[in-house]
Amino acid sequence: MVGMARVRLTQRAGKLASPPAKKRSTPQPGGRSKPIRRQRDGRMAKARRRKAIDSRRVIRQLESALTRKGEELHELNNIGVALSAERDINKLLDQILKKSREITAADAGSLYLVEEGKDKNSPEDDRLRFKLTQNDSKMAPFEEFTMALNDTSMAGCAALTGKSVNVADAYHLPPGSPYKFSRSFDEKSGYRTKSMLVVPMRDHQDEVIGVVQLINKKSAGVKLRSVGLVDKYVIPFTAVDEELVSSLASQAAVAYENARLIQNMKKLFEAFVNASVVTIEKRDPVTQGHSRRVADLTVDLAEKVDQASSGPFGDRRFTKDEILEIRYASLLHDFGKVGVKEKYLLKKAKLYSIHFELVEQRFEYILQSLEVELLATKMRQIAAGAAREAIDETDRTYAARRAEIIQLREVVRHANKPTVLEEVGAQAIEELGRRRYRDLAGEERPYLRPDEVEALSVRKGSLTHDEREAINEHVSLTYEFLNQLPWTGELKRVAEIAWAHHEKLDGSGYPRRLRAPEIPIQPRMMTISDIFDALVAADRPYKKAVPVEKALDILRDEARGGKLDKDLLGIFIEAKIYEKTLPLAGAEVAR
Ligand SMILES: [Fe+2]
Ligand SMILES: [Fe+2]
Repeated sequence: MVGMARVRLTQRAGKLASPPAKKRSTPQPGGRSKPIRRQRDGRMAKARRRKAIDSRRVIRQLESALTRKGEELHELNNIGVALSAERDINKLLDQILKKSREITAADAGSLYLVEEGKDKNSPEDDRLRFKLTQNDSKMAPFEEFTMALNDTSMAGCAALTGKSVNVADAYHLPPGSPYKFSRSFDEKSGYRTKSMLVVPMRDHQDEVIGVVQLINKKSAGVKLRSVGLVDKYVIPFTAVDEELVSSLASQAAVAYENARLIQNMKKLFEAFVNASVVTIEKRDPVTQGHSRRVADLTVDLAEKVDQASSGPFGDRRFTKDEILEIRYASLLHDFGKVGVKEKYLLKKAKLYSIHFELVEQRFEYILQSLEVELLATKMRQIAAGAAREAIDETDRTYAARRAEIIQLREVVRHANKPTVLEEVGAQAIEELGRRRYRDLAGEERPYLRPDEVEALSVRKGSLTHDEREAINEHVSLTYEFLNQLPWTGELKRVAEIAWAHHEKLDGSGYPRRLRAPEIPIQPRMMTISDIFDALVAADRPYKKAVPVEKALDILRDEARGGKLDKDLLGIFIEAKIYEKTLPLAGAEVAR
């Protein structure tokens, strides 16, 4: 564009420099004499030369103005690119003000943002937030505050009318100005505010979202430490300044709106993730805090890996976004539990309490039946005039059978606990599945039904094979759920990372039985944190808390067995990462 403009000007310059030569007419008889003609020709030639010189000067001025304009456009363009790349809102606002001051040679400046009041449809209670200030010459304490959005201040006036305010001297405002200038800052700091340019920032919908206020345009790069220097070097802002800052401010407004949208989107994601964690914990209250502790541990481990300058992770770096990805994946790793039946998650013993109650009542019935049988036998013996010894024998037999049933009931009570079941106990439970009693209708029934035998025969923990499978299903459910969310580019692996949190390097994990080369570093770190927290977390209804040292030994064993990453575990233990969440987990620390 600049090049084209320059071409047009040069063409115009050519025309100006060489005007078309006029056709000379032949001198008429009786006309002017030769010397007079020569004089006139000389004057004309001189005038032509002067005109040519003037034209060249105009061209040079235009060209330099054009070059300046081109540079300004280039600078504005660069600023626009830099602003649109900045995602941190505070840094962005700082840049907006800094660049506005740079291109106008302003000594100081402030930035205000419009804040919507409670009623979104009425601007009545909108306010202006004093967000930022910069001053090359005076240090001033800064504190954010808000003020009414009205035209009594220059910033308010610019925001309200959407028009720039340009004053040569803030102490001598043009007559009839609706706004005033507060000298309080100047009086406190000894600064002298003179020229001011206040420009509204308009977003893509032409709404004013803030105001850039520039102070004291300087004719030289000096620090304005005294009023004398202000008088000497401060000049009014020009129409070009106004134009430049307006252009920059509108780019800045769009960049600010974009950054704010991205920030809001991140906040929304953060709130969604937190709400999801609350939901998981509502579903599985016994693991309260587990997701957050796993996230804390995994992020800490990732940061330690990132800091390693040598060893297996000397070259491994994580970006800020990758760390956020790890945090979200860790916070949501067990989300799939919302799709697992609550009774499985909360199962305290091998039999659900309602089933255990039935078994207890059954044993009570068997004992009562035995007593009824005894009394009936004794009545028959007495009626038949049986000897005392025979009756005593009946009593002994009854006592022995009762003791045996009570002992079997104890076996069931013991087997119901979610601890390890020994071989003897397992055999006794199986035997009870075959043993029979008669119900009230005279039907033969087993002491333990097949489903009860199956549940009570579980060797470790409280869950049957099917229940364990249903709980393990939470990993796939987590993946299905997370995979449906439109994660932005930098968080695209959240679902993938969470999906692998129960995989083991030797292929013994679930659900996909992945092996080492298929398991990335993120889930490897998460698995260590997850197992550690599950082990040391305060007693749960189905398990006792494991002391920290023992938990670390279990992890070391797993690493030796090729299930966990030994290098990552090394950092986890050496850097004492695990200590961070111990108080939150209510863990037992071995002394
Ligand atoms: Fe899990
Ligand atoms: Fe977990």
